[in-house]
Amino acid sequence: MVQLSQLISRTLQVVVVFIAIILALFYSSHKPADPMADPKQSPKPWADGPLPLVKTPMYQTGKDDVFTKGASHMALLHNAILRGYNTIYLQAPHVKPVDYADFIGYSLTWFNFVKKHHDDEEAELFPKVEEIVGQKGALAKAYEEHHTFMEGLVKFHDYLEPLSEQGQETQFNASTLLSIMDSFSEAFCHHFHSEIATIAALSETKTDNKDLAATVGPVFSKWGKASIMRAGLTDVVPFLFLNFDRTAEEGKWANWPPMPAPIRWGLVNVGGFWYSGWWRFSSCGYDGKPQTLYALRE
Ligand SMILES: [Fe+2]
Repeated sequence: MVQLSQLISRTLQVVVVFIAIILALFYSSHKPADPMADPKQSPKPWADGPLPLVKTPMYQTGKDDVFTKGASHMALLHNAILRGYNTIYLQAPHVKPVDYADFIGYSLTWFNFVKKHHDDEEAELFPKVEEIVGQKGALAKAYEEHHTFMEGLVKFHDYLEPLSEQGQETQFNASTLLSIMDSFSEAFCHHFHSEIATIAALSETKTDNKDLAATVGPVFSKWGKASIMRAGLTDVVPFLFLNFDRTAEEGKWANWPPMPAPIRWGLVNVGGFWYSGWWRFSSCGYDGKPQTLYALRE
């Protein structure tokens, strides 16, 4: 009897030590390099520039009709894309050769997300919204703007993809990448701000129709969820969550997109496990708070 209780006690001790080791390993690997610092207040640049982020119409106007909401949720996706651009642009000249492969993986994930975002908008979201509001061409401006920077975006991909595919990451040249990014930055930034205004403007004329409001809301939210989940659970999804700033706009979007906490944890931590080296370059840590950009820490 004494031996049995000793055995149980020892087993419990082993389990507790094992859990403690796992927790310690987890927290040490996910701890930001400078947890006390606020990168937004630091003299070092962070991901809110050089391309400026877009303010959500809900935060700006206090309105919460379906179009203002749809435009605001779109703005959150756009800001993840803009932070992505900024993290690549700011860090590229400072990445060490040993990190080139991870940096290229991170950068190509950004490209994949932007491309899929636009393909999904053109194939599904825009036609549906135009049909529901009964206004063909309501989003024509957004369609047209996609083409103003696509050539530069494709050059971005065509420069990085062969380096990765042929195992020639050591040939990476930051100046080449920056000149490609400079070539499309203006049109790119304009579009990611302008599309939000175009969608939000629909609220001026269309929200008095209750049936319309009931139809449009789910169109935006279903599209948003499907578009994110289709994009890639082990690359685009972790990229997105690690570039959503949970402190932005006074924490208004800390729990966006809404989902149970364990699922959010799994999407970031389990989904992010496959290419964990890539996420060093993201604007936010695993806790969703801004982190000092990895390549600018020294
Ligand atoms: Fe968009």
